[in-house]
Amino acid sequence: METFQSDNNPFQKTNTDKINSVDPIAIFNEFLTSKRIFKNKEVLSSSFIPDEITHRNTEIASLSRIMAPSLLFEGISNVLVYGFSGTGKSLVTKYVGKKLASSAEEKKVNVLPVYMNCRLENNNTEYRLIANLCAVFNINVPESGLSVNSLYKRLIKIIDAESTYLILILDEIEKLIQHAGDGVLYSLLRLNESLKHAKIAIIGISNNIDLKASLDQRVRSSLNPVEIIFKPYNANEIFDILLNRSKEAFYENAISEGVLRKCAAMVAQEHGDIRKALDLLKVAGERTQQLGNSVITEDELDNAAEALEQNITEGMIKSMTRQSKCILLSIISVARNKRMGRVYSGEVYDAYLKLSEKFGLKKLTFRRVSDLIADMDYNSLVMSRIKSHGRYGRTRELNIAFSPSIINKAETIIKEELNITT
Ligand SMILES: Nc1ncnc2c1ncn2[C@@H]1O[C@H](COP(=O)(O)OP(=O)(O)OP(=O)(O)O)[C@@H](O)[C@H]1O
Ligand SMILES: [Mg+2]
Repeated sequence: METFQSDNNPFQKTNTDKINSVDPIAIFNEFLTSKRIFKNKEVLSSSFIPDEITHRNTEIASLSRIMAPSLLFEGISNVLVYGFSGTGKSLVTKYVGKKLASSAEEKKVNVLPVYMNCRLENNNTEYRLIANLCAVFNINVPESGLSVNSLYKRLIKIIDAESTYLILILDEIEKLIQHAGDGVLYSLLRLNESLKHAKIAIIGISNNIDLKASLDQRVRSSLNPVEIIFKPYNANEIFDILLNRSKEAFYENAISEGVLRKCAAMVAQEHGDIRKALDLLKVAGERTQQLGNSVITEDELDNAAEALEQNITEGMIKSMTRQSKCILLSIISVARNKRMGRVYSGEVYDAYLKLSEKFGLKKLTFRRVSDLIADMDYNSLVMSRIKSHGRYGRTRELNIAFSPSIINKAETIIKEELNITT
């Protein structure tokens, strides 16, 4: 092994150092000083916890006020936190939960906020969720094999014995409801009736504003939540957040205020998703670095936006069912015939009937197709609004939500996935 530092180092300084006119050291130094973009790229990842949370004072105060009585062991309301993606719901709720835990510790009250993300597979069934809760209290339970009831019994026993106020923060709660049904919320809240010394409250977080309405009446009334809505950030707010983050993420001069303002304006148009803004900055920075440049330009930001949109659209399309792919293809083909003008769900359905036959798919009813289009709307692939009473009854007016440059690509992917070449 050569260390390049030993006395007999073959690369030791000698008189030959001056022979060449190109100086590698100068190149190294130039690389190390001027061509670097990122001071700390981690800061742009969405899991990074910023020191400062700006423009969410109202939401932080509302949540804190709701949780505060738990410090006197008084009952608190259950909460549903809503808002579009990337509006700071998880960040703010975790932050308030953490502060509550430290306040409780200081005041020697047994209030225990527990955060669980229901998107993760090990949290999305009733058994796993309760087993994980048991694990928080050091009760070991097998991965399966016991009845859920016996898990609940063990949980009740321990939290009652310890007189715990359990505040269960269920992030992306819609995933739990999708997998396990809403009965699990009911069962958890009903535990309050069996608890003598302990209490349980639920704080659910979701980007589905219809969540409460979708709950079973019985569940809705036992949850009876206070609802907190996180409004989308506007462009100025996004700018402030990005400015804070970019000071830590980038070297000075690598990014200008102009580029940050542009980035803020771009995402403000789409519900102010900070995660997306951070992704844009990261991708634009990486591309700039690859090109050997030291300053991120507005053009690079545009390129990053296109690359990201392509990835996201591709990912979403690939994860759709064959029926939904066929419907999206129908929307694209009708829109193309109308030079990308507005299309109506009746026309789409006519095209769908032909395409579904071509792909050998079972023909769904107009109503079902409408529902599947509404799901695409929810996932931002299509924008729709209920328009009039057409041939098939309620008609939706549709616009494709992704940019024209991606439509060709989308069409190719869908056709590939549906296995035809024409
Ligand atoms: N006010 C803020 N100040 C600083 N950073 C923020 C703020 N709001 C959001 N962020 C950052 O934006 C990213 C997304 O926030 P968060 O994960 O809380 O969004 P969310 O509303 O939970 O989204 P989703 O519905 O997709 O889960 C995170 O990196 C977070 O740190
Ligand atoms: Mg979240």
